[in-house]
Amino acid sequence: MEIKRMFKSVKMLSVFIIYLDQVTMSTLQDQREYCATLLSQYDPELLASFKWEMSHGIERFFLLSYCLACCWPGLGAKSDLRIVKQWAELDFVFPSQAAQRIAIERNYYIRGSSVPIDVDVNHRQGVPSRIFVTIPRFGPGRPVTLGTVEPDGRIKGYPDYSWHDNQGNNCAGLTSVFRVAIDECQRLWVMDTGKIGDTQNCPPQLLAFDLTTDKLIYRHIVNQSSYSDLSLFITPVLDIRSRGAGDCTFTYVYVADVSDFGLLVVDVMKNRSWKVSQRLFYPYPSRGIFNIVGVKFELMDGVLGLALSPYKPGSERNLFFHALASTTENVVSTRVLRNDSYASTKQLGMDDVYVYPEERPTQAAAQAMDSNGILYFGMMNPPAIYCWNTATEFSPRNFHVLAIDEETLQFASGVKVVINTKGEEELWVLTCSFQRVMTGTITSDRINYRIHAENLSILLKRSACKGGKQKPWSNV
Ligand SMILES: *[C@@H]1O[C@H](CO)[C@@H](O)[C@H](O)[C@H]1NC(C)=O
Ligand SMILES: *[C@@H]1O[C@H](CO)[C@@H](O)[C@H](O)[C@H]1NC(C)=O
Ligand SMILES: *[C@@H]1O[C@H](CO)[C@@H](O)[C@H](O)[C@H]1NC(C)=O
Ligand SMILES: *[C@@H]1O[C@H](CO)[C@@H](O)[C@H](O)[C@H]1NC(C)=O
Repeated sequence: MEIKRMFKSVKMLSVFIIYLDQVTMSTLQDQREYCATLLSQYDPELLASFKWEMSHGIERFFLLSYCLACCWPGLGAKSDLRIVKQWAELDFVFPSQAAQRIAIERNYYIRGSSVPIDVDVNHRQGVPSRIFVTIPRFGPGRPVTLGTVEPDGRIKGYPDYSWHDNQGNNCAGLTSVFRVAIDECQRLWVMDTGKIGDTQNCPPQLLAFDLTTDKLIYRHIVNQSSYSDLSLFITPVLDIRSRGAGDCTFTYVYVADVSDFGLLVVDVMKNRSWKVSQRLFYPYPSRGIFNIVGVKFELMDGVLGLALSPYKPGSERNLFFHALASTTENVVSTRVLRNDSYASTKQLGMDDVYVYPEERPTQAAAQAMDSNGILYFGMMNPPAIYCWNTATEFSPRNFHVLAIDEETLQFASGVKVVINTKGEEELWVLTCSFQRVMTGTITSDRINYRIHAENLSILLKRSACKGGKQKPWSNV
């Protein structure tokens, strides 16, 4: 018991030092708000036990650290992740007033019901970049399930409105999209669950659009043997086994099935797919309660966050993944996933997946990895965006805060590393007040959805994720 309390105290101190290290404030106002947040997170009992247990030397150090962060005006800088777009509720572009009227009449459009969850960006030479968002159809009222953000902030159906119309009755169009992925061959990959709410209106399908022409170039319909009534295919990641610049012949897509707990592996060239299962795709009951700024909800979602290690020709890539209701991170070699003998066996072996022994302090939703093997993810409580260099141990010691904000960084459901036209990597994050969606308390009188972005070179400038003790990763 004593040891446990002591450990908690040390942990608190180190978390505090990480805060000091990472988060600094632009203005006095920011600083005051930040410090109030910081202090409100302290458990007074823990603080008391901390003081009691630790030596005076450390206590003085703690107080000095506190003063450095909170009493010394003007110290440090700001959180660099910028808000690019934000909404209280989404508004849409309809092809005509008549189309909008029909959408309202048929309950295709119910104001305030559309919740965006993913973002991706198509940077183009000479023309403005396009920001894509997805709006899954958890129920009726979402006029568009995949769209671009117009300059005025309205969402325009992609590739056009006809793909989104006749909801649930148009299997050649889009039924419901959770997440998308843009690859280096200018293709937008769209995973359509085929479901509205719990109703499977159409088979799940994976589509690819050519972003230079906005034409459909690939459609894979998932075989009935690879999904069940429970299935919900929500997160695709792209594994392009390039044999040289611009070669995208050998493409695999791994897709998380969040509620039938597995991964769909699509071999694009052969136009076939199989689903693999394993216990680590499941949620953990002990992690099924979420607490976001004091609002709690229950959600037993399985595998959701996926990220691939960088591709080096000739070498293998690893897929990092975790269930939403979990605090672990797991790794599987894509060599195992691509082995099409799983098309018949389906079950991955016990030793095929590696689980890191240490865990996150709270759950994370989406994640993404950059070309240097640094992983980015949001955490629930306190709402913040973290990085972790996969060359170091997976441990809270090696998680570094890139941005922290109780209000603006709630539930990072979309996280992407995007390459801009200069070849630089950018981090894009979509956050939504998901706790308010889940508890039915979402209202349009405050900002609920935000898109954040910044160049990684800026975000990582002072971050320990970049340097970090290098420890060759050799688990799988
Ligand atoms: C892939 O197979 C689906 C059936 O699942 C078919 O409709 C589609 O045309 C095929 N796509 C290609 C590119 O061959
Ligand atoms: C689809 O599943 C059925 C069994 O449900 C199987 O017989 C068939 O071979 C599968 N097709 C493909 C293309 O995998
Ligand atoms: C694919 O898996 C089977 C067993 O499931 C194994 O015998 C075979 O060696 C694997 N192939 C590759 C290329 O790893
Ligand atoms: C990244 O930096 C470039 C300039 O090098 C700038 O044009 C671009 O807008 C920045 N991206 C983001 C997301 O801020």
